Amino acid sequence: MSIKALKGFKDILPDEVGLWQFIEKTARDIFQRYGFEEIKVPILEKTELFVRTIGESTDIVEKEMYTFVDRNGASITMRPEGTAPVIRSYIENGLYVRGSVQRLYTVGPMFRHERPQKGRLRQFHQMSVEVLGSNSTRIDTEVMAMAWHILQEIGLPASLEINSLGCPECRPSFKEAMQGFLQKRSKHLCEDCQRRSSTNPLRVLDCKSEHCQAQYVSAPSILDHLCSACSQHFREVRQNLSLLGVPFAVNAKMVRGLDYYTRTTFELITTELGAQGAIGAGGRYDGLVRQLGGPEVPGIGFAMGMERLVMLLSQKQNERLETLPLLDLFLVTLGEAASEKGFILLQMLRSQGLRVMMDHEGRSMKNQLKQADKQNARFTLILGDNELANCEVLLKDMHSGEQQLVELTPVFEDWAAVIMTKIRQQ
Ligand code: HAM
Repeated sequence: MSIKALKGFKDILPDEVGLWQFIEKTARDIFQRYGFEEIKVPILEKTELFVRTIGESTDIVEKEMYTFVDRNGASITMRPEGTAPVIRSYIENGLYVRGSVQRLYTVGPMFRHERPQKGRLRQFHQMSVEVLGSNSTRIDTEVMAMAWHILQEIGLPASLEINSLGCPECRPSFKEAMQGFLQKRSKHLCEDCQRRSSTNPLRVLDCKSEHCQAQYVSAPSILDHLCSACSQHFREVRQNLSLLGVPFAVNAKMVRGLDYYTRTTFELITTELGAQGAIGAGGRYDGLVRQLGGPEVPGIGFAMGMERLVMLLSQKQNERLETLPLLDLFLVTLGEAASEKGFILLQMLRSQGLRVMMDHEGRSMKNQLKQADKQNARFTLILGDNELANCEVLLKDMHSGEQQLVELTPVFEDWAAVIMTKIRQQ
């Protein structure tokens, strides 16, 4: 029996890679426009890092982490998200000395042992950004506007939902109100929610059971419990978003699946992916750097799920991407001498920076032309033994179908440069 990939782990096949590259390139370009720098952090970390940041009573830590004991007996976890590793690195490498505000992004795979379904995998990829060192509500706004901007440029509309989760000053009063509310409904709740009612009552709002969610329709609102500083912060964030023309809706029930958030939280939602509607999400985590042993530095960030973006884009059958040429040139040769010279010319054209292919299987001219078509070549260059003798080649524009005879010099070494110039003129 052949060996198959693990459940929830997916190959990204060549046909899809163009979409992945387009999304990543667009996002990287926008990250740079907003002053972000890339950071690369390891996939494996000490388990403790995630337990202390994401929170012990979250679904991720309770049920979803890929954790194992390594050969030295240490408990290791495959990162389920990117924020904790970036903060660990920020503290460990003293990145705060580079400047008071650090804007960082990272791209890579994450691992969560969830039940796989459409848009939910066990290995998935995130583009994740973090801003460390600013309390300004303009940063909250810039970060959300940037997420919004990326989706606009990729061509995927989504709605932005925002909330505030308050701070250690005001959250206890909300927790108390939630506990009172939950106690009265305890017997209608799932086991997880019953348990979390006392340990982490905010977390119940994140429960995936529809039955529990029906109970929470009349739950207290965190927004009624914000202290004046948090209220003011949230008001400014909303005003700033309006100033920049970024549309949003307030969703007071959004708590997010990780415990580290304070104040602003947000999600980018689409209705086109069924249950897995969040294509990006994030928020503020002001106490987290300190909690991990770093300086008193506030933070905010978000992550976007690449698989969800790719699925949405391929659903839209983006024509612009489908017609993107895979090759600049396909070299068609006829006859043995032409094939041999063609092989050298292939190398020379590649050195000039062109994406070029030729046939090595001795196929007929008709088949070679078919191959050029299949590989979506922008031009074909036909070189037969006759052309070789006359120092000329036939250049065909695959878009217009036009052909032209290109005269070359007797110096074979110059051919690539002449062909290159001709192509540039098209
Ligand atoms: P998160 O909400 O857990 O946040 O994940 C962010 C995004 O990753 C989701 O909106 C979704 O698009 C994608 N995602 C999550 N789980 C899966 C999965 N199993 N399969 C496919 N896609 C998935 C975080 O991870 C935070 N670290 C975001 C953040 C950065 N907050 C502050 N800074």
